[in-house]
Amino acid sequence: TEPLRLGIAGLGTVGAGVIKIVRQKAALLAARSGRPITISAVSARNRDKDRGVPLKDYAWEDDPVALATRDDVDVFVELMGGSDGPAKAATEAALAAGKHVVTANKAMLAHHGQALAELAEAKGRALRFEAAVAGGIPVIKALTEGLAGNEIQRVMGVMNGTCNYILTRMENGGLSYQEAFDEADGLGYLEADPQLDVGGIDAGHKLSLLAAIAYGTQVAFDAVELEGIGCVSIEDIRQAADMGYKIKLLGVCRMTGRGLEQSMTPCLVPATSPLGQLDGGTNMVVIEGDQVGQIVMRGAGAGEGPTASAVMGDVMDIARGIDISTFGQPASTLVPAQAAKATAP
Ligand code: NDP
Ligand code: HSE
Repeated sequence: TEPLRLGIAGLGTVGAGVIKIVRQKAALLAARSGRPITISAVSARNRDKDRGVPLKDYAWEDDPVALATRDDVDVFVELMGGSDGPAKAATEAALAAGKHVVTANKAMLAHHGQALAELAEAKGRALRFEAAVAGGIPVIKALTEGLAGNEIQRVMGVMNGTCNYILTRMENGGLSYQEAFDEADGLGYLEADPQLDVGGIDAGHKLSLLAAIAYGTQVAFDAVELEGIGCVSIEDIRQAADMGYKIKLLGVCRMTGRGLEQSMTPCLVPATSPLGQLDGGTNMVVIEGDQVGQIVMRGAGAGEGPTASAVMGDVMDIARGIDISTFGQPASTLVPAQAAKATAP
């Protein structure tokens, strides 16, 4: 059987994790998908950097666009990050060249997801992004596949591991903001620009992608009401604890008669509730469907293994020939979102 050949651009936390899975679990992946999963070529900025994985078996490309369009690449795996620049250029080039694309890049999709999904569909190729939302939690598959028979009433949750880690360590560990931030950095949670994390922007990107799938609307990141955790002090955390609450960066989206509400802001949640007990880099996504009721998904929202796990879930779908539109329905059928001011969750 023909192998499915990957080209991986970005060899940082997530890229190294993907290479480890492909190498260490080759037999398992082949047994489950019915064909070998191989890596043809890789790309990053610094060829000489030790990444903790052997790269000598793979061709090297300095230019991600050259990688994305190689004849021996079937799936371009974009793990560089950044909403524009090389990530977008290489993704467009890959799709135009008839490659499938798997990405963990929520920033790129929040800004350009509509156009990229339309390009993928015009070419009859997959553009998949499970790893972009809530790390290892397979929430995209839940919404696009398992819950496809439901009208979605509400999606909410904690979707940024960095913020949840910082807030948890400030509360439980008595750490300063900076100490907690540095720990999160050491765990590989941070975006290249950490302001995206602590400013709530990264979590807002994720919420806007979930809203598009849940409500069949075009991605409307600019309409998300956003506030980061920079305004949260240790004193706020202590006062909340005295009243039996914790402070979480909570995202909520729902469709109302007035339009689509999307908010990502620090909120008080009861300390004994599942959200209140969510510690560290863990994420939680709560989905409410008219048939299924409430589903709660909890798991690692960032880090090497969990994020690479989600990337491989998408790669395996492509290897198996599972054909799901990027946003669960053809991108051309997504309707513009009419934004409504969010009310209390
Ligand atoms: P890292 O910063 O660890 O790695 C980024 C990689 O991309 C590096 O290898 C870097 O090269 C390479 N790169 C950056 N710019 C270029 C360029 N212009 N040309 C070629 N290579 C380039 O990022 P992460 O692995 O943490 O994240 C990757 C993606 O995954 C991002 O979109 C991020 O948002 C997303 N993500 C990350 C998660 C996490 O837990 N870390 C979780 C979920 C999603 P070099 O090493 O040589 O500098
Ligand atoms: N920086 C992100 C986070 C990575 O901390 O959640 C996962 O998307």
